[in-house]
Amino acid sequence: MGPSIAILGTGSYAPAKIVSNHDLSRLVDTSDEWITTRTGIRERRIAGQHEPTSELAARAGIAAIVDARLTSADIDLVVLATVTPDMPMPSTACVVQHKLGIPVHAACFDLNAACTGFLYALEVARALLVAGRGRHALVIGAEKFSGFLDWQDRATCVLFGDAAGAVVLGRAVDSRHGLLGCNLGAEGGATDLLCIPGGGSLHPPSAHSVEHRQHYIKMKGREVFKSAVRVMAGAAREILEQHRLTADQITCVIPHQANRRIIETLSKDLEIPLERFVINLDRYGNTSAASIPLALDEARRAGRIHAGDISLLLAFGAGLTYGSALIRW
Ligand code: ACO
Repeated sequence: MGPSIAILGTGSYAPAKIVSNHDLSRLVDTSDEWITTRTGIRERRIAGQHEPTSELAARAGIAAIVDARLTSADIDLVVLATVTPDMPMPSTACVVQHKLGIPVHAACFDLNAACTGFLYALEVARALLVAGRGRHALVIGAEKFSGFLDWQDRATCVLFGDAAGAVVLGRAVDSRHGLLGCNLGAEGGATDLLCIPGGGSLHPPSAHSVEHRQHYIKMKGREVFKSAVRVMAGAAREILEQHRLTADQITCVIPHQANRRIIETLSKDLEIPLERFVINLDRYGNTSAASIPLALDEARRAGRIHAGDISLLLAFGAGLTYGSALIRW
């Protein structure tokens, strides 16, 4: 067992531009009623032309550093979870390092686990700190999904939004507090449920890939819905059992924000009242890797998390990846 690692600060950023369901109904054949009843989403934020993922990430990152009462000079590691990087290469983490003036000794890299990306990044950063690779890690989930949405496909373009969330990790003052555990997994046979097929080595960018709209997200919504409930409920039960905790000891659940009905089903399945779930997808939609750190930051700043509380973080995403984490504050 290494030292206990804790979240020392949180931050988030969402672009200013709000796009409502009504706005979308002027673009594709949809309605506020359909989107609200099927998903719970009312509006989402869309980043401007000069706001790439690195910009959203840097703003969330500096907010987390300030919240931790540190400066950029204190950061030894940057792990950035995203599926919408500024460019395939170099990593968006390096761009953020430069924007924030984080020292050159810091290791900086991106990580892709889709909507589970933040939990993967949290665990990787925790393990690197425990292994002695620095004192403080900046862990960011950031997405500019609007650039990868097919604005002619009503089944997907209404679901996603742009945002970033971040945390700073460091030694816990009290070893009983901090990140208690994290379980990660993947069902790699389900890659076709949710993917952006074009732009990689399988289907490199070409006139054909553009013509066939392969650079946009494709999703089998119903199947993703069912898998999401199954893997998140399983991940929750597993981690609670491992830590000998019961559902009533969890004061706050921060699930990936994809669909309100998924969260309601989880609440029933796990017998944890819906009031204990943090839900902000009505205002942001699904922001992929940004969704959990954004919800976590909002919950903390709204006074929903107190010293001694135990929070459960739950995620699923393309891959199909999934994960759970427990934090004692
Ligand atoms: N407006 C109006 N009608 C629509 C819209 C829309 N925006 N989108 C789809 N429809 C229509 C469909 O065409 C279909 O019409 P049809 O019956 O005439 O064929 C009908 O509505 C029902 O479509 P379904 O896809 O069966 O609707 P469902 O109730 O399953 O809801 C939804 C769809 C909201 C996508 C749901 O399946 C869902 O939330 N799935 C999970 C998605 C998710 O979590 N994705 C994020 C993954 S995380 C990541 O890694 C990125």
